[in-house]
Amino acid sequence: MTQLDAPALESTLTHPVRPARVAAPAPVMRRQSVGRHLLYRGDCVKVMNRLDAESVDVVVTSPPYNIGLSYRSYDDRRAEEDYLDWMVSVATAIRRVMRPDGSFFLNITGSSAMPWLPFELIVRLRSLFRLQNHITWVKSISIGDNSVGHFKPIRSERFLHRNHEHIFHLTLDGAVPLKRLAVGVPFKDKSNIKRRQHAQDLRCRGDSWFIPYETVHKRAQKFNHPGTFPIMLPRMCMRLHGLPSPVVLDPFMGTGTTLLAAEAEGARGIGIDLDASYVGIARTRLLGAMRDAADAAGTSSRRLR
Ligand SMILES: C[S@@+](CC[C@H](N)C(=O)[O-])C[C@H]1O[C@@H](n2cnc3c(N)ncnc32)[C@H](O)[C@@H]1O
Repeated sequence: MTQLDAPALESTLTHPVRPARVAAPAPVMRRQSVGRHLLYRGDCVKVMNRLDAESVDVVVTSPPYNIGLSYRSYDDRRAEEDYLDWMVSVATAIRRVMRPDGSFFLNITGSSAMPWLPFELIVRLRSLFRLQNHITWVKSISIGDNSVGHFKPIRSERFLHRNHEHIFHLTLDGAVPLKRLAVGVPFKDKSNIKRRQHAQDLRCRGDSWFIPYETVHKRAQKFNHPGTFPIMLPRMCMRLHGLPSPVVLDPFMGTGTTLLAAEAEGARGIGIDLDASYVGIARTRLLGAMRDAADAAGTSSRRLR
């Protein structure tokens, strides 16, 4: 029942009915483990404040962008100052749980209506972090007449389609060593390998990462969640940080993509979301991925016998 339909019902009853509150009550923090991962339902600042300080190697996350997306429990239309203050409190909580040599990959974009937002935010975070790298996540690109990847079309005579988003790589001292070749690409000109005395046929990919979304035809294929990222995004961030079996945190877990990436990369994931049904989706996806991996391992060990 909503606040709107309460008065009609009230008129047919002898005892007045108190209208339902529009704002959802603050969700209780709940924790569950799935394999080696921990999933929390609750407010990420409250949950992070209960985690041990300096206990997380890598944070990969995509917060709500404040661009009016329809999440189930979160209103993505805050006043801009309020949003920025809130994000600073989130980043402060992240800083406390990060190890001194940790990496925080913050994925964010603006909109045609709020084009300054990612830049305003990153400037606000200057007192907390060093901006070690600024990666551009390219979702769709045209090279000559050839186009690859997907984007949300914008009907406008003023604005171009937004084909990219930001991944800000934030660290505490700006000097965290990375494993650049873990996300490297083979040399185009193979003569470079010998000439420049490279140990292998791999070079740094650079800071433009083309990671297309999988093609989907229905919202249900994206779990009816309005803002997921592709699994390769957190996988590449983890590989770039380069630590074997890291502890990886996503304070805005959504459908659990970062946890699936952690499972695939041999990491231990911690995911937090305000919404119980998104946590349920993350759990189901994670269990499915673990079952698929076990089935694949069973099939290959049967083949060996
Ligand atoms: C952009 S989505 C993340 C999607 C995720 N990367 C994925 O691939 O599914 C942001 C998420 O933050 C959650 N959220 C909003 N406010 C939160 C809060 N205070 N604490 C924890 N989660 C929150 C929303 O419910 C939403 O699922």
